[in-house]
Order: sequence, then structure tokens, then C-alpha cells
Amino acid sequence: MSTTPKTNELIEQLEKKFSNLGQDLNVHLEGLLHSKPITYWDYIQTDALLNLQIQRTNLPDEMVFIMYHQVNELLFKMILWEIEQVAFKKNLDAPFFSSKLMRISRYFDMLTSSFNIMKEGMEAEQYMKFRTTLTPASGFQSAQYRKIEFASTELINLIDKRFRDNIDRNTPYEHALEHLYWQAAGKDYKTGKKSQLLKAFEEKYRVEFVDFTETYNKKNLYTKFKTLPDEVKNDSALINAMRDYDYTVNITWVMAHYDAANYYLSGGDSSKIVEATGGSEWTKYMHPKYQKRIFFPSLWSKDEIENWGANI
Ligand code: HEM
Repeated sequence: MSTTPKTNELIEQLEKKFSNLGQDLNVHLEGLLHSKPITYWDYIQTDALLNLQIQRTNLPDEMVFIMYHQVNELLFKMILWEIEQVAFKKNLDAPFFSSKLMRISRYFDMLTSSFNIMKEGMEAEQYMKFRTTLTPASGFQSAQYRKIEFASTELINLIDKRFRDNIDRNTPYEHALEHLYWQAAGKDYKTGKKSQLLKAFEEKYRVEFVDFTETYNKKNLYTKFKTLPDEVKNDSALINAMRDYDYTVNITWVMAHYDAANYYLSGGDSSKIVEATGGSEWTKYMHPKYQKRIFFPSLWSKDEIENWGANI
């Protein structure tokens, strides 16, 4: 094969790249002679991925449960990936911000609509059996879900609604974490005692969460938005994308999850509601009208905030 001007141009660029790194281009070219051709399975790591489904029982629908949670975790990772790009973007503008938010909302739409897979995809009878082997674990312990929240808004908006007005906004991260809304799922407020669900979660992730919240303190989506120049902040497409994201996560997804939980834990009959594997008072805890979790409160009217999740 004879070299073309394109080949020479590429060699020149490679020479430049490797000399900048203090490397010899010839060694890298020789390496190409020995490297294996890429395959789909090596690149996507299918063998590793498909060996991560380990059941605790022999009930076939437990496999659906495990895999569906794993699919969720992969999508959570995609969401965090997009948020990170907004957080660390220099000269952030409205089109970039909106397009990333719309991507994230589409991922959440997928998670929401696919809850039907979960809702109708497992036999309730099988679920009631294999769930007993999962106590006291719960999706509550998904660290990525919490990171999505930390990266989306200021900590004050994740503080339990009962303490939100009185807590000092400059309180240390460790102290703020003690008052986050989700403590209510794992804490007896009369005795202050934490459940095993919460203790295990905090033991594993507390340090990581403190570090993560510090990183996103000034880089979370809400603070990023608020510090934009006025003309960018007033961009209607951006405002719509922010509102859409807030609603999709904090009402639509939450309600789809709530409906699935209700289906499995009550079998459609609220007098038969059973305790969750994580042990929370979940019927109250999980409904958006009680939690009033809102990432971007300044983008909603007083009325909209008061009625958050009330009409569904
Ligand atoms: C049969 C399906 C499911 C049921 C019955 C269910 C039930 C529950 C319940 C009752 C809680 C409250 C905490 C507790 O006491 O355990 C909870 C929390 C949670 N679950 Fe699920 N869940 C299901 C599927 C999922 C899936 C597929 C995910 C995705 C990873 C998930 C993620 C979460 C998260 C992030 C929380 C914490 C939410 C919050 O603090 O507001 N769940 N779940």
C-alpha cells in the first residue's frame, strides 16, 4: 500500500502527540502489529456483565427483580454522567444545560415507564417468598440515587421538611446528613434509634457522601443555574427543562415506584399492607405530598409547591 497525503498527515499528528508525551511513535506503531482486534464482547464486557446475577432463592422471578434493579443502577450511572458534565462545564450556556437535562429526564422517563415491567413482571406470590431472604436490604440503600439528589440541588432542599425552616444553612455536612428527608425511613424519631437499614447504609457510604456533597456544594444543578447570567437564567427552554426534570424525578418516578411498591406490598388491598423489607412506614414516607422533595423551588409558584404531589 502506498502512503497517501492523509497517511502522512496522520503520522505527523501522531509524532506530535507522542513526542509531547515523551514517547517514541515507532514503539506504538509496532504495538499495533501485536494488539488483538477488538470484539463486541471484549468492548462491552458482556461476560462480566452477565455473570453478576446471583439469586438467593430458586424462585425464577427473583431473577427479574435482580436484573431490573441492575438496569436501574446502570441508568442512574448514565444520569450521574450527564450531571457531571454540566457541573464541571466552563462557560455553561442554556442550550448545553437544557440538552443535558432533557437527556436525564428521558432516562428517568424510561425508569418510570419500565416500572410496569416490575409491576406486572413478577408473580406477587413469588415476590412474597423471595423478599423474606432480602430483609433488611432495600432499594433505599441505592447510593447512586442519593448522589443524583446531592448533585441536583442544594442540601437544604433535601432536609426533612419538618426541619427545613429552622436548620442553619451553613451547618456542617455531617450534621446536615443527619437531617436529610430519608432519615425518616430509618429512624425512630421518639427514641432517635436508627434501623439496621440505615445503619448499614451510613456505615458503607457516609464518608463518600460527605465528600460528594462537598464537591457538589457549589456545582449542583440548582446552584449552577442560579449563578448563570440573567439572560441565560431567563431562557424559557432551560426553565422548562429544569421544571420537567424536577417533576419527572420527584413526582412521576416517585409515584411509579410507589404504585409498584403498593402493588406488591398490599396486593391492591390497603388493609393488607405488609411491612417493607427495609422496615419503613413506607406508605406515608414515600408519597411526594409528604416529602415535598423539590430540587428547584424558585422555579415553582407558591401554589405549585403547596400542592406538590397532592393531586395524584
Ligand atoms: C417490587 C418492587 C419494589 C418494591 C416493593 C419497593 C419498595 C420500597 C419501599 C417500601 C421503600 C421504602 C424504604 C423501605 O422500607 O424499604 C423503597 C425505597 C426505595 N426504593 Fe424501592 N421498591 C421496589 C423497586 C425498586 C427499584 C426497581 C428501585 C431502583 C433502584 C428502587 C429504589 C428505591 C429507592 C431509591 C428508595 C428510596 C426512596 C426514598 O427514600 O424516597 N426500588 N422501596
